Amino acid sequence: MADEHIDCDYSRLDGFLFLPKNGTHQQLQDELEAAHRAGLTAVELLPDAGATGFKTGECLRFPNQGQFHILKYLSGLAEAVVAQGGRIFTRTHVQSISGGSDAHVTTSDNYEVRAQAIVLATNTPFNDRVVMHTKQHPYRTYVVGARIAKGAITKALYWDDADPYHYIRVQEVPEADYDLLIVGGEDHKTGQEPNPQNHLDCLEDWTRAHFPSIQSIEYRWSGQVMEPTDGLGYAGPDPLNNDNVYIITGDSGHGMTHGTLGPMIITDLILGRSNPWAKLYDPGRVTLKLESVKEYVKENLNVVAEYADLVTGGDVSTIEEVKPGTGAVLRRGPLKVAVYRDEAGTTHECLAICPHLHCVVHWNSLETSWDCPCHGSRFDAYGHLLYGPSNMDLPPVPKALE
Ligand code: FES
Repeated sequence: MADEHIDCDYSRLDGFLFLPKNGTHQQLQDELEAAHRAGLTAVELLPDAGATGFKTGECLRFPNQGQFHILKYLSGLAEAVVAQGGRIFTRTHVQSISGGSDAHVTTSDNYEVRAQAIVLATNTPFNDRVVMHTKQHPYRTYVVGARIAKGAITKALYWDDADPYHYIRVQEVPEADYDLLIVGGEDHKTGQEPNPQNHLDCLEDWTRAHFPSIQSIEYRWSGQVMEPTDGLGYAGPDPLNNDNVYIITGDSGHGMTHGTLGPMIITDLILGRSNPWAKLYDPGRVTLKLESVKEYVKENLNVVAEYADLVTGGDVSTIEEVKPGTGAVLRRGPLKVAVYRDEAGTTHECLAICPHLHCVVHWNSLETSWDCPCHGSRFDAYGHLLYGPSNMDLPPVPKALE
């Protein structure tokens, strides 16, 4: 940021890990010892953060953390790329990727672009059909932005380790007479929650209970995070490709950190330099720690269970049961059909089978999208691709079944 003079409100501040309801002193003690073992010896245990507007209770203080305005940062970064001769193309759909000495990508318009190295930093890699998708799993996460009086809550980073967890920061709004409190969490596995609105409601309730000084909730949104089974992101060579193809994924809630760390590692790998973090973040790593293995097995059994949907009935039995503005899966012969009825009453159909590895998609009533419960692909109400690893729209319904 400093090298490129990117003005993005960067500030240094404390981070506080606080206990969820029913959390124990021992949890913080274990975290403290782990932080010290990792070399973060300035981390300390406190009886309370001493913050204005938020009683954390017993917590760990992580000094010298960083906060910045993400969009200002990305805009500055894009300008820096262009200033140094780089070119940025948006709305160009890459259909396939080939590595090796003739590394190239092919776009959906059939153009080929050759490069010495290709980096996929698409949140989840769309070129890898299986391996990476057994090592990380997709979660929807929810966020609210609430108005607070200036200075009402001490500017710091706060988070707990509840399951599902919460994360909090204060965003100053210089041009207004209020600031924003941003609170996120209440995650659930993508495509596996019949009523996502409940999670947003829970987050609002939690926010009001913990921050009684908020004035109003102004913003609500959701996003998707990829949770690695062993807890650490991936940045390095794509394990399923020939040389010269690299991936950055498994960002959990640390996308901006990995968006910096990943390119540092991959730049070194491309230039043949050693990097002290390359082995740790290697996407091909095998983690044999018991907790990670248990998580791996649990998450992948969860995915296998989703395939049972292929042989069950639909959400509804007849198309008339699909209400305007909603969607539902219907069994039709051997297949399942995703039916969306728009507000005007017209129905739109596509196959409810995800093109990635053929799980049955589920209707997301909050985002009006079709979400795949296996590896997190998402499609709009009409079946158009929103999010990988699928790299295609939902298929049309075969003529014989229309
Ligand atoms: S995302 Fe893998 S089967 Fe749908």
